[in-house]
Amino acid sequence: MTVQIAPSILAADFARLADEAAAVAGVADWLHVDVMDGRFVPNLTFGANIIAALRGLTQQPIDVHLMVVEPERYLESFAAAGASVFTFHPEATVHVQRLLGAARAQGMLAGLALNPGSPLQLAEEVVADLDLLLIMTVNPGFGGQTYLPASSDKIRRARELLTAHGSRAFLEVDGGITSHTIATAHAAGADTFVAGNAIFTSGDPAREVRDLRRRCLVTV
Ligand code: DX5
Ligand code: ZN
Repeated sequence: MTVQIAPSILAADFARLADEAAAVAGVADWLHVDVMDGRFVPNLTFGANIIAALRGLTQQPIDVHLMVVEPERYLESFAAAGASVFTFHPEATVHVQRLLGAARAQGMLAGLALNPGSPLQLAEEVVADLDLLLIMTVNPGFGGQTYLPASSDKIRRARELLTAHGSRAFLEVDGGITSHTIATAHAAGADTFVAGNAIFTSGDPAREVRDLRRRCLVTV
């Protein structure tokens, strides 16, 4: 299982976005962009213009996490802006399977995100349509929260679900991933790790990315 690290620019210094993206460019695998609409989650962030700006700054895949109602409204503009992964929450839209297919048709990877209180069964009927399954390890809306311990068992069950269906989808985790929690999430079966504050408030983002990757080798 190849480990992927996806720094979340939510924790970056926005006045120095180009420098922050450059700091992780050679070492991280993806760039994670949290889109929030103030309705699905109680916070507002950014949209297609930031995705396009980042697209011009880096070669890395841009991993877009939509915490918005009616994510289908952003499918085409985000694809045009250069999004590589389109991940949304099943409660935010009516036709989940259709939207996953539409994301693929736009040339993006299709991802489904599950909140801590959302059952894994929400992904069960659409496993074949997934390129990525995101298990939220905090309640979404804000960076800098603490990894919920109950997540580890859910990650384990998510890995079993993917394996049972012969799925090669990425199993991503997001929220409270630090040098202290990443090994546990990795041991539970995650392969793709979003980290915001751990990376961008560390003083040396590249070193932190390397450290997170190294900690996945630790047996817990
Ligand atoms: C939370 C977002 C996360 C956030 C993670 O709603 O989906 O991607 O940026 O931040 P940290 O790593 O600081 O918990
Ligand atoms: Zn996120």
